[in-house]
Amino acid sequence: MSRLRVAIQKSGRLSEKSLEILKSCGLSFARSKDKLFWYGRDFPVDVLLVRDDDIPRMILDGVCELGIVGENIASEVMLERGSESELNRLRKLGFGHCRLSLAVPEKMAINSITELENARIATSYPALTRYLLEKQGVKPEIVELSGSVEIAPGLGTADAISDLVSTGTTLRANHLKEFEELYQSQAALYGRANDISEEKQTLLDRLLARLEGVMQARESKYVMLHAPREALEKITELLPGVEHPSIMPLEGSDRIAIHAVCGETVFWEHLEALKAEGASAILVLPVEKMLA
Ligand code: PRP
Ligand code: ZN
Repeated sequence: MSRLRVAIQKSGRLSEKSLEILKSCGLSFARSKDKLFWYGRDFPVDVLLVRDDDIPRMILDGVCELGIVGENIASEVMLERGSESELNRLRKLGFGHCRLSLAVPEKMAINSITELENARIATSYPALTRYLLEKQGVKPEIVELSGSVEIAPGLGTADAISDLVSTGTTLRANHLKEFEELYQSQAALYGRANDISEEKQTLLDRLLARLEGVMQARESKYVMLHAPREALEKITELLPGVEHPSIMPLEGSDRIAIHAVCGETVFWEHLEALKAEGASAILVLPVEKMLA
């Protein structure tokens, strides 16, 4: 029987959430001693634990069918390898948000990206940085570094850097200022653009349907409340992402119970607005699983 392999980051920012999302899809694993390959027990999907930077190449080279990795890394590898190396982004996963930004020393006066023409820019993402700068008409001199990019300006080996920024702590600690955001990234599930066997495709379709359900459930809330019958229309409008709520009469009362799945985030402001329309006993519950 066919099995699929999905590569995830072994240790780092994406590791925990990558594993968590696979588990939410009903996958569980027998962890092997070497810890680099976990066998899927309940669903024929195995996990490979690797360096995140290696994931796109492993998919393209056929070591695994799937991988969870930052969009920035996938883009870097596709640009580096050229157009025949297409990765297929199957689903954005809503975590691991960060941005690729240009940063310069705090004291450097700079007003426009064009001032970086011929400047030395240190980065771990040479292809993506070059591509994004050239799109804006700037030709930089790229200094490729595999890590510790943020210390390059202080050492005098670069004038600026192009690096991932999440909280900005790394930049501040190194007296750098974010000057221009080049690219926004988050974690996504990738596969190859072409030919996998029919059996594997069937398996992949099942996994993707579950993943879609997980992602939708994460964004959804089940809301229950009581309301005056005449407020039904207004209340339906106030429930984010709801068109057809369930209506139930309340024994011995002229009020009704309204139940609905909200497809968008429910904020306190929404609840306050519902209350103002006469709603009471408002409950907001998480949705655990969903299958459309
Ligand atoms: C990135 C980047 C910075 C840091 C920025 O590295 O290279 O060092 O994160 O994060 P901050 O704005 O929250 O300080 P990452 O953790 O992705 O490590 P890696 O490049 O080794 O995978
Ligand atoms: Zn990395």
